[in-house]
Amino acid sequence: MAIKVGRGATAPPFMVMDVIAAANARQASLHPDAPGVIRMEVGQPGTGAPEGAVEAAMRALRTRQPMGYTEAFGRQSLRARIAEHYRQWYGLEVPASRIAVTAGASGAFPLAFLAAFDPGDRIALASPFYPPYVNILSALGMQPVIVETGLDTRFQPNVAMLDRLDPRPHGLIVASPSNPCGTMLHPGELAAIARWCDANGVRLISDEIYHGIQYDQPLATAGAASAHAVVVNSFSKYFSMTGWRIGWMVLPEDLVRPVECMAQNMFICAPHVSQIAAEAAFDCHAELAENVAHYRRSRDHLLRILPRAGFDRLSPAEGAFYLYADVSGRSNDSAAFCARMLTETSVAASPGVDFDRTRGNRFVRFSYCAAYADIAEATSRLAGWR
Ligand SMILES: Cc1ncc(COP(=O)(O)O)c(C=O)c1O
Repeated sequence: MAIKVGRGATAPPFMVMDVIAAANARQASLHPDAPGVIRMEVGQPGTGAPEGAVEAAMRALRTRQPMGYTEAFGRQSLRARIAEHYRQWYGLEVPASRIAVTAGASGAFPLAFLAAFDPGDRIALASPFYPPYVNILSALGMQPVIVETGLDTRFQPNVAMLDRLDPRPHGLIVASPSNPCGTMLHPGELAAIARWCDANGVRLISDEIYHGIQYDQPLATAGAASAHAVVVNSFSKYFSMTGWRIGWMVLPEDLVRPVECMAQNMFICAPHVSQIAAEAAFDCHAELAENVAHYRRSRDHLLRILPRAGFDRLSPAEGAFYLYADVSGRSNDSAAFCARMLTETSVAASPGVDFDRTRGNRFVRFSYCAAYADIAEATSRLAGWR
């Protein structure tokens, strides 16, 4: 007799992970003296956690303190430090009581979605998008409503697009700077979207995980524009602490207690030692600014050289460490295109199919968080490749 499997079992893979596996296999197949694979498919900083964060973790471990569970929302001192961060970066007063420390932004999404929405609810988001938004929503029985965006709006949604949604969605997810495009909602645009959400009873979820890695645009948090928005952030990107699995949310008052109850049941707490390290990371801005300076240098180099290598339709690289390239002039099958690029140049990049299920076959995402020397080498390999 067949035994039932749940809806979660139909969640599609996060395909970038498969591309990473292909790049690993390619690297393993190369002669040790051959030029190695350049990793432009991964979305994680090549740098480790900042020194002050590592020191704080080591100090805490050396004292042999038990490192037991913390409160579900995290150590009080970390929550207070995050509140202070909002004061310093955005001039925004957020009480520490509204801050929930989570197991990365990934740990925040199911909590936010379950607290804010019910199965069957419609949640809008721009495509191209970070694939887990759609995959998690679907696993939870919620309906993603895809709003196609293009270069004309820097691959970001706007109020006119949202106004056309009929029926109105229950929620909206935005990401600025975004993955895969590296584009931003400028402060006025984000505020207009937040106002539209409030006026239309739509819960805004703002993924701000790439804040801190922006180049020329000013930064705004959705928390400043709406008291109803859920802000998701993380120590994975600007703070360069991906594997420490630590992030946070700024919650609206009405979701604080529901999210806390769910976090107690689902996760108990974020990793304790990572919470200690994360608190210290707020004192490491000088080191982190150097990382951002490297990204900027790589970005400038790519924007100069990639068009000469035939990648001439690029998203404006305003933040994060991604460039989204329209390769339709060269291929209509970005997965095959990336596979050929990996085989012939040993440069790994991600096909757009993960980020956009209807148009992604025409796009490739280049990530430039590797060392500058690697990025420069990648561009010289691509320059001669057709
Ligand atoms: C837009 C976006 N949101 C969330 C995440 C998940 O990050 P975390 O490591 O904090 O779980 C990523 C990771 O790449 C991302 O690109």
